[in-house]
Amino acid sequence: MDVYLVGGAVRDELLGLAVTERDWVVVGSTPEEMQSLGYKPVGKEFPVFLHPDSKEEYALARTERKKGRGYHGFEFHASPDVSLQEDLLRRDLTINAMARNTQGEIIDPYGGREDLDNKILRHVSDAFAEDPLRVLRVARFAAKYHHLGFKVDKETHLLMRQIVTSRELREIAPERIWQETTKALITDAPGEFFQVLLSTHALSQVYPALYHPFADGENHAHGLTALNTICSSHDDAQIRFAALLGGLHYEDKTNNLNEIKKFTQEFPLSKDIKKLLNLVLSYQHKCHNALQLSSEQLLRLIHYLDARRNPERYVNVLNICEVIYNSINKTKKYKQKQFLLDAVETIENIDIDTWVQEKVSAEELTNNIRQAQLSRLSELINKYN
Ligand code: CTP
Repeated sequence: MDVYLVGGAVRDELLGLAVTERDWVVVGSTPEEMQSLGYKPVGKEFPVFLHPDSKEEYALARTERKKGRGYHGFEFHASPDVSLQEDLLRRDLTINAMARNTQGEIIDPYGGREDLDNKILRHVSDAFAEDPLRVLRVARFAAKYHHLGFKVDKETHLLMRQIVTSRELREIAPERIWQETTKALITDAPGEFFQVLLSTHALSQVYPALYHPFADGENHAHGLTALNTICSSHDDAQIRFAALLGGLHYEDKTNNLNEIKKFTQEFPLSKDIKKLLNLVLSYQHKCHNALQLSSEQLLRLIHYLDARRNPERYVNVLNICEVIYNSINKTKKYKQKQFLLDAVETIENIDIDTWVQEKVSAEELTNNIRQAQLSRLSELINKYN
């Protein structure tokens, strides 16, 4: 049997980038032989094994044939007579269809090396269009390698449009869409991911709720500006996504704030990000206008933002609001943030000992605390204005 390093590891090695995961292809072997050598079978649909020591993935060389709709609709053929070239042919992009043998030689039957040099994301064969997930993958690679100057090849773009026309993108599980999106969000240029989805018309199928604000030139620009700006200070995918959505809805000209909120609650996101998105989408304007609020309104805002129970998320919301506001208004100062932080600080630690000693009723105690908070907030408002 012959073993080859394949896919992303070969690509990233040639690009001089760090390799985080290594996938291997085994030619000329059988599941029985692999198991007799101590490899552990893990593949449900096709034969993949984990190396007994390194635990890296070793897949038997295989070919694929489309037999149904969606990205699961494939029939696999793995046998000792499947060649490395045949295995590489079924892959998505030429830059992902190279292999390295144990002597360190690169096997590159489909021009991956040349496309790496010319910075082109190009499909290997027309079979590219059989897997709708590849639209998302190419958009993700466009984001990941944007800083190196990579562009999607024209013909590949056409094939992506063809996949969109087949509407098979609608069959990709939302969890899978989010998985690709998260990977794209942590790159240096996540905006490229959304631009490619937009230019291939895939966005309306993948993220229907984002399509309307993206289709409006001004909202589109606000969303991408906020996303691009937040990338220099925050590398967390959730915070970046919240900045994008907040920016897209900085002005709700397309009247789809409710639609987007519904999407954020229904899409399979974690509870934490759902809450963060909801706070940014619902209260960003109150934060932007914080200095004009009355003490009652301010106290209510602090309560809605759950600032005292979850100070870390509160700071994140304020950071996101700051980035959205500054990137859209082209300013550098967001006094609102310090003001809102001071507002929470000033209502902390109100001394209730005297009232407790006086044994005031629970209702009176609540009322006294509230009056004390409002009075401290009024002082703060006067100080800032
Ligand atoms: N692949 C493919 N089509 C897909 C998924 C994967 O052709 N829909 C192939 C590509 O050759 C890819 C390899 O399987 O390089 C491994 O896939 P994966 O680990 O998902 O991605 P990588 O290319 O390794 O990318 P990354 O490093 O960003 O994870």
